[in-house]
Amino acid sequence: MSRPIRSGPGVPAWHDRAVVVVNRAAGSEWRLVRAARLDALAEAPYAFGSTLQRELAVGEAVWQQRVQDGTWFLARDHGEVVGLACAVTEEARPRQRRLEAMWVRPPHRGGGAASSIVAAVVDWAQAEGAQAVCLWVADGNPRARRFFERCGFAATGQRRPLPSAPGVAVGEWCRSVGRATVEDS
Ligand SMILES: CC(C)(COP(=O)(O)OP(=O)(O)OC[C@H]1O[C@@H](n2cnc3c(N)ncnc32)[C@H](O)[C@@H]1OP(=O)(O)O)[C@@H](O)C(=O)NCCC(=O)NCCS
Repeated sequence: MSRPIRSGPGVPAWHDRAVVVVNRAAGSEWRLVRAARLDALAEAPYAFGSTLQRELAVGEAVWQQRVQDGTWFLARDHGEVVGLACAVTEEARPRQRRLEAMWVRPPHRGGGAASSIVAAVVDWAQAEGAQAVCLWVADGNPRARRFFERCGFAATGQRRPLPSAPGVAVGEWCRSVGRATVEDS
């Protein structure tokens, strides 16, 4: 599907068979990450635990720090940012990486950008020595559920309310990384 290549000093990149390129965002790209995240929250509020209102209130210095210290991925098509995702390590689950904030601009859906983002995150998680990548998907988000199922994720049975809309339930989905099984993690 997608193969890692090197693209400049220490920055991994992944090329899809199409023209979408996924890179881990550099700290200096925090404005691009912020803009894409705000677009995502405005366009697909049903999908995320945070809200546009809450993220608009976050100061620029905090965003800078978030991108500097965190692991964000940007998908670009001919230089235009068409998607993003964030990968998080939870202290309590060091062998897993959590995929969050995944979003692809509507005109680019169905075109392989989302698969490239997942491939980049899974490659990164494997390089980190993780054994599984997990995420929370809302019950009422059938497109995302189908997409992640196609990418090899399966429901673990863990459930909780969506923080931004407690009436909505989210389920945890995981997939193994490399040769590990989800149970290893
Ligand atoms: C989730 C997301 C990243 C997936 O990217 P995408 O480009 O849309 O994914 P794809 O088109 O490759 O795959 C979607 C799959 O769902 C199917 N699908 C589309 N609409 C559907 C619906 N209403 N119900 C069920 N399946 C649906 C598609 O046919 C496709 O399945 P297939 O490959 O078996 O044909 C993207 O839709 C998105 O950004 N959504 C809004 C934000 C979001 O939900 N993020 C995830 C948070 S957990």
